[in-house]
Amino acid sequence: MGMVENIASLRADQRFADTDHWASFGAQWASGDSKRIECLSVVDETHDVKTFVFQCPDYPALAYEPGQFLTVSPVIDGQSVSRCYTLSSTPTRPFTFSITVKRVPGGAVSNWLHDHLKAGSALAASGPAGIFTPVAAPARKLLYLSAGSGVTPLMAMTRAAADLHADLDIVFVHSARTPKDIIFREELARLERALPNLRTLFFCEGLGDEPHWQGPLGRLSADELQRQIPDFKEREVFTCGPKGYMDATKALLGNAGFDLGRYHQESFDINAEEVLEALAEPAGAGQAQDTFTVRLARSGKVFTMTPDQTVLSAAKKAGAVVPSSCSQGVCGTCKTAVLEGTVEMKHNGGIRQREIDKGLRLLCCSRPTSDLVVDL
Ligand SMILES: Cc1cc2nc3c(=O)[nH]c(=O)nc-3n(C[C@H](O)[C@H](O)[C@H](O)COP(=O)(O)OP(=O)(O)OC[C@H]3O[C@@H](n4cnc5c(N)ncnc54)[C@H](O)[C@@H]3O)c2cc1C
Ligand code: FES
Repeated sequence: MGMVENIASLRADQRFADTDHWASFGAQWASGDSKRIECLSVVDETHDVKTFVFQCPDYPALAYEPGQFLTVSPVIDGQSVSRCYTLSSTPTRPFTFSITVKRVPGGAVSNWLHDHLKAGSALAASGPAGIFTPVAAPARKLLYLSAGSGVTPLMAMTRAAADLHADLDIVFVHSARTPKDIIFREELARLERALPNLRTLFFCEGLGDEPHWQGPLGRLSADELQRQIPDFKEREVFTCGPKGYMDATKALLGNAGFDLGRYHQESFDINAEEVLEALAEPAGAGQAQDTFTVRLARSGKVFTMTPDQTVLSAAKKAGAVVPSSCSQGVCGTCKTAVLEGTVEMKHNGGIRQREIDKGLRLLCCSRPTSDLVVDL
């Protein structure tokens, strides 16, 4: 049987979690390749969230898995700056694709996109990547938990499930500051009316300017989890949001007896952590500990670092300009040749074995085990 026949013989809920199915929707854009994408329209979702709709002249129809992200690289003040944004669109409508971006106070790229990207503008981007997709854990009963802009991968999955008419039982829980901060609120309400097995639940920390809001207030608690989703232990959980939200959610589920082997998460606010790590004194500063010397072959910079730092954060701290985005070994932006020496690299799919064999490493998740010479 050929691949197409194989896919056709699958039920919709099986296709939802099948890589070949998603690959069949259009051309596949290798994750490391940079392309020009053109903005077709900009949609205001909330007061600080916009959706940017794109097309790529190289791909009339684009294949990706729901939940994957793009790395966009606008040129800001003469410098290319890369950040990851989940494709909030559904791959079942492959002719255009979108990202949905929340303004981060003081953030370089989110504010630039909000203030400068208009219909007709173009941008460099590299291809879809990421493993936070239904393929990671096929299941029919799902619990999607998100906060803030973390809604985007779960929205992509829900839109895809709806278009496929997949027989999936989804509870979609989203936490927002106030009702007016709920991203995709109207569309989720419409999808809930259309799909018998989709249930949405919004938790708001405050009422804001909607004093008549009837939904639950506060954060998701153990009691609310039991009361609202009594069968939560039977579900595969996908969580996305700020680190604090995800830590709290994981602890809540673990304490409630949920099998964390069925828990999947994607973190968005890695850059802030990286900034903090880069600015902080190395762990154990002031005490004697191993240090390694790193030489940057192109710039001639030499610095020392400890084995608990990533090569990326140490190089940035030493003043090197290193392209990076996700800081979790998924996007491939920081891929660089290590010319001499060895590192321990714990990546999440952002590099292929044949690239590793050629000496390339993802600096954001590589720690030195010897002195190094790096191709920077
Ligand atoms: C896989 C993945 C998918 C993502 N998907 C989405 C998505 O769908 N939608 C979305 O909105 N976001 C998403 N993000 C987050 C996004 O990539 C960016 O991290 C986010 O938009 C902030 O980028 P920025 O350039 O605006 O902020 P940055 O410039 O990176 O700043 C981040 C924070 O650090 C602070 N900061 C920056 N520099 C310093 C400094 N020197 N000292 C102290 N503090 C500093 C800023 O004030 C800000 O609070 C995703 C991230 C990942 C990893
Ligand atoms: S910055 Fe994304 S893989 Fe290193």
